[in-house]
Amino acid sequence: MNNDSTPNSDNRALLVTGGKPLAGDVCISGAKNSALPLICASMLADSEVVLTNVPLLQDVYLICEVLTALGAKCEFDGHKLTINPTTISRQDAPYELVRKMRASFLVTGPLLAKFGRADVPLPGGCNIGPRPVDEHLRAFTELGAEIEFKKGVVYARAEALKGAEVYFNISSVGATENLLMAAAMAEGTTTLDHCAEEPEVSDLVNFLTSLGANIRWEGPRRIVVQGTRDLRQTEPYAIIPDRIEAGTYALAAVGTGGSARIANCRPKHITALVEKLREMGVPIDTGDDWLDVPATEKIDATKVRTQPYPGFPTDLQPQMTTVLTRAGGLSVVTETVFEQRFSYVPELVRMGAGLLQQENAIVVDGLKSKLTGAPVEGYDLRGFAALTIAALMAQGESLIAGYNHLVRGYEDFTEKLTGLGAKVKLADRSYKLKNNNHK
Ligand code: UD1
Repeated sequence: MNNDSTPNSDNRALLVTGGKPLAGDVCISGAKNSALPLICASMLADSEVVLTNVPLLQDVYLICEVLTALGAKCEFDGHKLTINPTTISRQDAPYELVRKMRASFLVTGPLLAKFGRADVPLPGGCNIGPRPVDEHLRAFTELGAEIEFKKGVVYARAEALKGAEVYFNISSVGATENLLMAAAMAEGTTTLDHCAEEPEVSDLVNFLTSLGANIRWEGPRRIVVQGTRDLRQTEPYAIIPDRIEAGTYALAAVGTGGSARIANCRPKHITALVEKLREMGVPIDTGDDWLDVPATEKIDATKVRTQPYPGFPTDLQPQMTTVLTRAGGLSVVTETVFEQRFSYVPELVRMGAGLLQQENAIVVDGLKSKLTGAPVEGYDLRGFAALTIAALMAQGESLIAGYNHLVRGYEDFTEKLTGLGAKVKLADRSYKLKNNNHK
């Protein structure tokens, strides 16, 4: 378990002494972005639900708090989570919980499908630009729901959801998941067209199927769901490994010129990253559930463009940009999923990165970059991870504030990095760096 409770949780920062190549093994936890929808989907079952390989993360605890506030019972035993949804007695998700995490909007689909109503405040979450839920709401209305929006709360009502043909304008992960859960219990057949096909969406399809739902992929980006009200679990369900966590450690190894064996992962879920790294001169080796990053002295500059799966994941964009500061030339990283996902850029520049932002693209000059330790701040989850990689690559000490973002998404981060030989520890954000002139 991580030691997130010390020091003072509001002032936590990560102290990193960099300049040393990583080496060693790291074992990947269950996927945060699968755990969250699967926990919400458990509400649809008429039985207890047991999930295994559940990552112990702030966001996971938070979604469990939301379910508990609705009347469900959630109990952890290590990485096993037992949910009893049969005691749910309310359909109004509390604002003080929902505002902290965008994914809590995923309770809307199951509440609406099972109970005919959901009162859910508009969500908050990671600070990566405006993230509307218009696609979720439009699709719910296509299934016959009535949606009202008053004082920041979405009021969704439906006596009985009815299957429909839904076409998503954007292949939104959250909208696809919300609609999958609603359609699993709607009357008749629902078709979700131009939907997201991230591995976490597939994990939700597999989980719902294991509960007795009738769902099939009908070609790329098209899912057909035959609704049923009879959903119950017969055996525990194991959450897939976290591909973004695996990718982050792979990039940390490459960034430091080090090596790593990444165990308990599914390399086929990050093919876009593996292929990109090979193209950059890192001969990654993979098996079904492991990935080896060999030490490389030099890496080549490249072009990266984030895309919905199976394209390069936006959740690895900040980490990749950071690594490209050691490439032998000019790289361009273009963000197409969340156009404002660059809060880490000025911080990386303070550490000595040669970056130029032009609209939704970053030009990375590897030849003009020389990272040195500095006090910086992470403003969102993946931005914090990127700054940690930068600090591991840099000479000297860095202090990264904003640790509250990190604990949302990386289990045992300091322990896993320490296992790879990194010098990292929690500190107070008022800690003064040694031999450092940065203000
Ligand atoms: C999920 C992931 C997040 C990842 C993202 C994209 C979880 C808990 N989070 O977020 O880590 O970065 O997928 O892979 O799984 N959009 C709209 N209207 C909508 C819905 C989305 O305009 O109704 C836009 C968003 O603003 C964004 C894009 O579509 O620009 C993709 O968003 P979406 O796929 O919905 O991301 P999330 O499900 O929020």
